[in-house]
Amino acid sequence: MPWPDLIGLAGRPLKPPHNTVNAVKLLQKLSVSLLGAVNNYVAANRTKTSYFVVGGRYATRCIHSRASRTAPMKTIACIEDLRALARRKVPKAFFEYADSGSYNEETLRANRADLENIKLRQRVMVDVSDRNLATSIVGQKVSAPFALAPIGLCGLQYGDGEILSAQAAEEADIPFILSTMSINSIEHVAEATTRPFWFQLYVIRDRGFSKDVLARAAKAGCNALVLTVDLQVLGQRHRDLRNGMTVPPQIRLKNIIDIATKPGWALSILRGKSKTFGNLAGHVKGMDDVTSLAQWTNSQFDPALNWKDVDWIKKIWPGKLIIKGVLDVEDAKTAVKLGADAIVVSNHGGRQLDGAPSSISALPAIAQAVGSDTEVLFDGGIRTGADMLRALGLGARACLIGRAYVYGLGAGGKNGVAKAIDILKKELSVAMALTGTTRVTDIGPQVIVGGEAKKKSVRKGTS
Ligand code: GLV
Repeated sequence: MPWPDLIGLAGRPLKPPHNTVNAVKLLQKLSVSLLGAVNNYVAANRTKTSYFVVGGRYATRCIHSRASRTAPMKTIACIEDLRALARRKVPKAFFEYADSGSYNEETLRANRADLENIKLRQRVMVDVSDRNLATSIVGQKVSAPFALAPIGLCGLQYGDGEILSAQAAEEADIPFILSTMSINSIEHVAEATTRPFWFQLYVIRDRGFSKDVLARAAKAGCNALVLTVDLQVLGQRHRDLRNGMTVPPQIRLKNIIDIATKPGWALSILRGKSKTFGNLAGHVKGMDDVTSLAQWTNSQFDPALNWKDVDWIKKIWPGKLIIKGVLDVEDAKTAVKLGADAIVVSNHGGRQLDGAPSSISALPAIAQAVGSDTEVLFDGGIRTGADMLRALGLGARACLIGRAYVYGLGAGGKNGVAKAIDILKKELSVAMALTGTTRVTDIGPQVIVGGEAKKKSVRKGTS
């Protein structure tokens, strides 16, 4: 389109219906045409190329970003749609921090692949008109068999990310677990919610901090503690290194351009209550200079942490204790012996020991060994309600979801988290119906193809 036409179009009043979506579409068309014109001009004036190209890309990305921000959430069909939207709206360094796994990402991929390989048993002609997803986790009634997992740096996917996620969880009647490495502090989340949430602990060398932070969590009304035991040393995430992933992000030209093209994200972060590790700043010595998870883990996490410390934690923590990061039957038995109210079968979402088995492949033997003595929870790769049905069919009482809600958060703040929860609940309900199940508490090996036979072989130790 030639320049004069463009200017004329831009100056013309919009005909009704002149709503935001139409305006955004027009702006998108305009920017694309504008870029074409700019590129033609640049071809003839090579010295000014870089300014025009960078400026043009900025304009287009902003307009695209605006368009996706106003896109109604109802156009989102599944968690993968939320992921695609989050990828567009969250700066690359933060999106990939959540999305990635450690080293070659073998375990990250195995978590998904192994879930998808488990076939569900279709049953017909069962009255499934009245279905109930409710159950309980460590004695707490929940509307569906899952909780929002602890996510480090959650508040950098979207400003006040922990507060918004906790509120969405509260409204959906499922537990929210706040990470030690959160951006909003325990106190921020407590002020913004009305019901108890759960707290996740990383034990650091300074045991005084652990004592302190648990006292803060108890004072804030947290009624369950999730002790993460699979991250004494950090598995390297190559993508974080390549992206210069720090808090705040490293000042690299590509990071600046990336952030500048995500105005919705930038605004949410600017408005957020905290821009650093909310639970640590002002509470841990030497924290002021710490910017990266790797730096913090290397200098502060306690690699000497061992089973004896569980006793100590039980003495200083008054509520329920959930041990997260168990992938081995022997470890599961030890956790139970030490009095864990629940364990989470988890490989940290494929972010720690690369080459470890998928969580779902480790679940049946662990559930078989300790499922009657403690609650066995599951995480690792859940993207659909059918995945939850698979995990419950293989012996989990409930699941923790991580990335599935983080994508929602990045895609649309609190509405995005609510959307993720809603998608998973609805998918689970349908999957239950089509396997002839009406109550979550009735889900068992019968929903898995060959499930009953597999259960027997695990019992005999032949699996
Ligand atoms: C922290 O929990 C991480 O996996 O990055």
